[in-house]
Amino acid sequence: MRVLVTGGAGFIGSAVTRVLLEEGHDVTVLDNLSKGFRALVQPGARFIEGDLRNETQLPAWLRGHDAVIHMAAFIEVAQSVQEPLVFAENNIINSLRLLEGMRRAGVGKLVFSSSATVYGTPESLPIRETDPLGVQSNPYGASKVSTEAFVATYNQLFGMDAVILRYFNPYGPDERHEPETHAIPNFVRAAIEKRPVPLYWNGEVVRDFVYVDDLARAHTAVLGLNGLQYFNIGSETGTKMIDVVREIFDIVGYETPIDDLGERAGDVPATYASSEKIAAATGWRAQVPLREGLERTVAWFRAQAGRA
Ligand SMILES: NC(=O)c1ccc[n+]([C@@H]2O[C@H](COP(=O)([O-])OP(=O)(O)OC[C@H]3O[C@@H](n4cnc5c(N)ncnc54)[C@H](O)[C@@H]3O)[C@@H](O)[C@H]2O)c1
Repeated sequence: MRVLVTGGAGFIGSAVTRVLLEEGHDVTVLDNLSKGFRALVQPGARFIEGDLRNETQLPAWLRGHDAVIHMAAFIEVAQSVQEPLVFAENNIINSLRLLEGMRRAGVGKLVFSSSATVYGTPESLPIRETDPLGVQSNPYGASKVSTEAFVATYNQLFGMDAVILRYFNPYGPDERHEPETHAIPNFVRAAIEKRPVPLYWNGEVVRDFVYVDDLARAHTAVLGLNGLQYFNIGSETGTKMIDVVREIFDIVGYETPIDDLGERAGDVPATYASSEKIAAATGWRAQVPLREGLERTVAWFRAQAGRA
């Protein structure tokens, strides 16, 4: 298939591009490098350095592709609270520009990167796709709920095939967000640099960590599906943050102190996925155990530190 990946110079987009190429697809990466890196654009992919805001160029960039995997967005939750308009413009309006561009270019298939954040505080665990969406405590979450709604509308109006993937907590090599607000890269970096590990809620918060290669495979697994579909992408295992920290200490072979950051407003106490639905539809399941994923992640951050 000829697939255009928006945000393909980012953490997850570069892994998705790699898997697409490995599986024999023809790939174009569209990224403005505002948060991504030229070095993360996979060799073998065509690269357009362009912005989704550019609605006059979009149809020409899109024409000739069979599907779009839409990952370009701003992702930092705290920044979304400071700058809600910037987030609404880039995450919602630019997604709508993309949908319009696809309609005009005759591209009829979309995979969209959404998030478990759309469920808010879950009423029960594991979270299933039939569970209600929750109230969003920040504009980032609101931007995902809004974009999901526009994607569904394009399916209803124009018959666009659309798969919405709600990621739980991705982690792995090549995660180089600036600033980094995600737990695992911050734990690993602190441990490698022998600094105190920053931890909220005494590490009691439970999350479902999904290794980036597993997550990437989910995108190619759904490319053959039709209609409007929603899938949770998680490992189906809830892990306490403190247990992730202990695992990292075990991997590096020593412990550093904990930097107790207390409570943080807006944090949901526990989330983990049921991914039964995508398993039934495509056979996809997460395969990389947390220990193995963390070992690979520690090795990557160590190599980065060695280069610094
Ligand atoms: N990382 C996570 O924990 C997580 C969790 C759930 C959902 N997601 C979603 O997955 C997607 C990818 O996340 P990531 O962690 O790889 O982020 P990332 O910041 O590493 O990648 C996003 C990419 O999009 C590009 N981009 C942003 N705005 C653009 C625009 N207007 N035009 C062209 N390119 C643009 C950036 O340059 C960057 O390369 C995002 O949609 C994010 O909301 C991420």
